Amino acid sequence: MKIAVIGTGYVGLVSGVCFSEIGNHVVCVDNDPSKVEMLRNGEIPIYEPGLQELLNNNVYRGKLSFTTDIGQAVRDSELIIIAVGTPSMPNGEANLSYIEQVAIEIGTVMDGYKIVVTKSTVPVGTNYKVKQWISELTDHPFDIVSIPEFLREGTAVKDTLFPDRVVIGIDNPRVREPLIELHKSLTDHIVITDIRSSEMIKYASNAFLATKISFINEIANICEKVGADVTKVAEGMGYDKRIGNTFLQAGIGYGGSCFPKDTEALIQIAGNVDYEFKLLKSVVEVNKDQRFNVIHKLEDALGTLNGRRIGVWGLAFKPNTDDVRDAPAIDIINTLIQKGALVQAYDPIAIDNFRLVLNAPEIEWSKSAMEAAGGCDAICLLTEWSEFAEINLTDLASIMKQPVMIDGRNVYGPKEIESSPFVYYSVGRPNLNTIDDDKHVTVVLH
Ligand code: UGA
Repeated sequence: MKIAVIGTGYVGLVSGVCFSEIGNHVVCVDNDPSKVEMLRNGEIPIYEPGLQELLNNNVYRGKLSFTTDIGQAVRDSELIIIAVGTPSMPNGEANLSYIEQVAIEIGTVMDGYKIVVTKSTVPVGTNYKVKQWISELTDHPFDIVSIPEFLREGTAVKDTLFPDRVVIGIDNPRVREPLIELHKSLTDHIVITDIRSSEMIKYASNAFLATKISFINEIANICEKVGADVTKVAEGMGYDKRIGNTFLQAGIGYGGSCFPKDTEALIQIAGNVDYEFKLLKSVVEVNKDQRFNVIHKLEDALGTLNGRRIGVWGLAFKPNTDDVRDAPAIDIINTLIQKGALVQAYDPIAIDNFRLVLNAPEIEWSKSAMEAAGGCDAICLLTEWSEFAEINLTDLASIMKQPVMIDGRNVYGPKEIESSPFVYYSVGRPNLNTIDDDKHVTVVLH
């Protein structure tokens, strides 16, 4: 199939590359000439394992190209995928202005029948707005289709080439076969539905996953008080197939460009039809609080944070990405600075992005995890990059002012902690070493 993908952000670029990989001719369109130039030179503006090789291969075999010329791309394609951003407005609602702009451009340039697919996450009813925006500008026939994207950053290529399911929302049976044909090599689980249900499936899926995370984080907070271990609780729950064992990792809450935005948007979508989504409101509230537990634990260990030197490991919202959008590290470092602490921050790849969001004289940027820990009163582990698990805790303790660690992602196990000199706080696990007499640290205890 000849496909035009409009928008070369995460979703657009990965979809475009993967559709070319499975044999289609894809042209990716962006209105930013410097981005298109970059992509033409084989440079990828995001960090995504596996994407580079697939992009190079498919450009080389003539299946994939990049352009700023939306007119040509639309005219040359049978299927047009809209994959532009839908950022949050201050009230949480999704901003549809980029979608509208693209719909207007499609309507202006199309010269024959097209299938117009929306992949961006959009509120229920948006595809019908797209239909209206396009039909006001053209007499050519077209069909609109909703195909939400479920890829995760860091595993985007795998998620796209081997998805758990593909959801296709249609309002005209004639698009059913070509769209099944396009996706059938990816999965046996193709859900064909109406457009509004398809739009809702995307929000409901993200909201449910966010709910699982906030649920397990609350269980973790209770575990801390009753002396239970949330990792065992999650394991014990997860073998129940009705519950499942994923997205039950307690930590410092979810961040990123999707869960925070989509949960707020769904609350707003419900609010617009006079329905108060009480459960989801609590999920969001729990998530906002969860990251500050790192600060409470630090204060528990150190007393005042004023004048303390705190190492921060991990700035990205999760490992294997350089994305820092709504990363818990932003709120945590901001609070540390407000409380008078000095921060030594390290992330394997996200420092440059983080510096654009938060930069202050109180933050020193480190080139390694050990450098970030040097001379610190405590280290806070905020993103579970695999390299942190490899670190020898005795060596680490020897370069710190005092061996205190707040592990926001439960990276270390009881064995490593018991044999280390660390005063160690994690999430929802019994104090693995609590503060014993044989841990010789000078922390102020409460
Ligand atoms: C999420 C969804 O997982 C994708 O299916 C969806 O397509 C995407 O949003 C989107 O709407 O575009 P993503 O934001 O890339 O993907 O990241 P996730 O891997 O889902 O993680 C989100 C956050 O939840 C991270 O901050 C992660 O640390 C946190 N998390 C995840 C936990 O705290 N515990 C868990 O058990 C799992």
